[in-house]
Parts: sequence; structure tokens; C-alpha cells
Amino acid sequence: MMKVPRHIKGIKPYVPGKPVEELERELGIRESVKLASNENPAGPSPRALRALKKGLGNLNRYPDGSCYYLRNALSERLRVRPEELTFGNGSNEIIELAVRTFLSPGDEAVMAHPSFVVYASIVQAAHGKSRLVPLKDQRHDLEKMSSRITKKTRMIFIANPNNPTGTINTSAEMDAFMKRVPRGVLVVVDEAYYEYVSSPDYADSMKYLKQGRDILILRTFSKIYGLAALRIGYGISGARTAEEMNKIRQPFNINTPAQVAACAAIDDSRHVAKTRKLNEEGKTFLYKELEKLNMDYVPTEANFIFVRLRKQNAIELNNKLLKKGIIIRPMGPGAVRITIGHPDENRKLVRALRQLKSLI
Ligand SMILES: Cc1ncc(COP(=O)(O)O)c(C=O)c1O
Repeated sequence: MMKVPRHIKGIKPYVPGKPVEELERELGIRESVKLASNENPAGPSPRALRALKKGLGNLNRYPDGSCYYLRNALSERLRVRPEELTFGNGSNEIIELAVRTFLSPGDEAVMAHPSFVVYASIVQAAHGKSRLVPLKDQRHDLEKMSSRITKKTRMIFIANPNNPTGTINTSAEMDAFMKRVPRGVLVVVDEAYYEYVSSPDYADSMKYLKQGRDILILRTFSKIYGLAALRIGYGISGARTAEEMNKIRQPFNINTPAQVAACAAIDDSRHVAKTRKLNEEGKTFLYKELEKLNMDYVPTEANFIFVRLRKQNAIELNNKLLKKGIIIRPMGPGAVRITIGHPDENRKLVRALRQLKSLI
């Protein structure tokens, strides 16, 4: 057996939400629902699907390594220069590119806990150290996070909205935070759920980019655009930050179908509006039903809801729900994260929760 470095040995592998097909194969059941990975229950953007069908003839060719058309379309839409964009195999890859580019062994990254688990494992893979700052009232404690910056800190991760809690940090909080972050520390603002946010207090992170701050904003086509399977996300940063990350990027990291679909999806404002509406309606329904069940949920700005259980029963609850064909996400022993689904899926979940009342 090869000798594995200690910092790699200690990494806990990412456990993705169970695919529906896998659950159905294992239990011999049908019509199960997945409310575990914050996917879009309205499906992929229909415009993207149409473009994909037309564009499948050139799979023998390598993709365009520069993402020329998508880069230009997004640059126009976001009012940034094309060289300020980085494309990744999901926004996940951009997290990895940023860490591998800017963090040397022994360097530190500050992040909230609980937040998106991938930040810490990528930092560990680069032999860096994560400084975890507990959430305060389920939100990033930005004051505490800035107080954890040391000479070794290279980057800070802020998921806004946060996964798993669905909470945001406000404009005023981010303004104050950015004033405390020294130059040379990269602030990674992960906005995977940006398009779902309805709060007027939501921080406009592009403002800091325009001010010339060291910031990398992450967005994705996996969520509201419904293209999770194609794996495509993007980063917005200063051109020099993008240029450095580009040096270690795989030359053809974004496949052609993903580029074609993403180009079409950004024009699909109808699908975005439909998804947002579905999400708002699902949210209202689930809030009402969770209240009836006397469950303690955190109001969300995203497409999932964090629910704290009165008993430390999350694993058992999850297992029982799986048997009923419902996949959610346990978050430690005392909480679960539930993706807001299609109305039928939400109703199925509520029916099951009523039957499992003794566990919640
Ligand atoms: C906060 C956050 N960031 C990033 C991602 C990664 O998304 P993707 O790699 O599909 O763009 C997710 C996915 O669930 C997420 O919740």
C-alpha cells in the first residue's frame, strides 16, 4: 500500500445526497423523491435543453477551453470584463482552484461552521489549516471571523446564503466586515443560491469587486438554472486573481454541452421566474406545515430549510424517511436540511413527517 500523507488520510470523503435510482434499487420501491441536494424541482431550463439537443453533433471535438461565447455573454450581463471570469466544473472546482492557487502548506483559511463542508476538505487537501468560527444565531459571525485573521490567513469563505442554514449576511454587516479584512486576504463569497434571495438587505458583493478588493464571487448553473448534472459554475474576481487560477486549471474543464446549455440558460428568465415562484410557494407551504408539526425551522433565503429537531434523532428520522422513499439530509444528530421540492414532493414529505412525529 502506498504511504498516504497524514493530511490526506484525515479527510472525510464528501457524502453526496443519495440518488433516487440508488434508493429505489436498494429498497425495491418506486416514486421516491430527493430533497437532499438543493436541486431544482422544476427541472432544467427548457431553453438550455433545446440548445443542447441542437448542439450535440460535435462531441468528437475538444471543448472551447476559453468558454468564449459564455464568457462574453456573462461579461455583458454582469458588467464585468471577460478576463474577470473563471469557469469551473461546478463552482466546486473554483473553490479548489482558489485554494490550490493561493494557499501554501501551513497557511490558514477562515470559514464558518456549519457551512459548506467542501471548503474545509479542500483546504486540508492543500495541507492548509481551517479556522472554524461557529455561526451566531444560524448566521456567519463576521465580526468573530475577522478577528481570527492572522498573518497566515490567505482566504475567508462566506457562503451567502449559507448552506445548510439558508441564512444571509446583510449589506451593513458585509460593509463593516470588508473594512476589517486586510489587503492580500482573498474573500470568497459563495453565492450558489444568489438567485433565490428575496431579502432587500442582501449584500451586493459586486460592489467590493468594483472597489478593487481581493474578492472572488462564486455562482453556479447547478441551482436555479437546473443544470447540476452538467457541472458548470463561475467565479467573478479581479483579472489578476483569475489569471493566476487559470494557470492551474485543466485546459478543457468545461465540456461543450455545459457551455451550450449555460449560454441558453442565462437568457431563460422565464424558467428562473418560474423556479423562484415555485420555491416561494413551497417555502410558505412547508413553513406552515412545519409549524403545525411544532418543528423548529430557520427561515431561509435559499431553496432549502434547516430544521432543528427536539430530539437527537436525525439519523433515525432519515432512515425511516428513506424507507418511505424520501431522501433528505441529516445535519449531525440534531438537525436536518430539506430541499424545497415540487408541491407533490413537499406534500409527501409532510405526510411522512406526520407519521414519524415521535422522532421529531
Ligand atoms: C454553498 C454551496 N457552494 C457551492 C456548491 C457547489 O455547487 P456546484 O459545484 O454544483 O456549482 C454548493 C452545492 O450544493 C453549495 O451549497
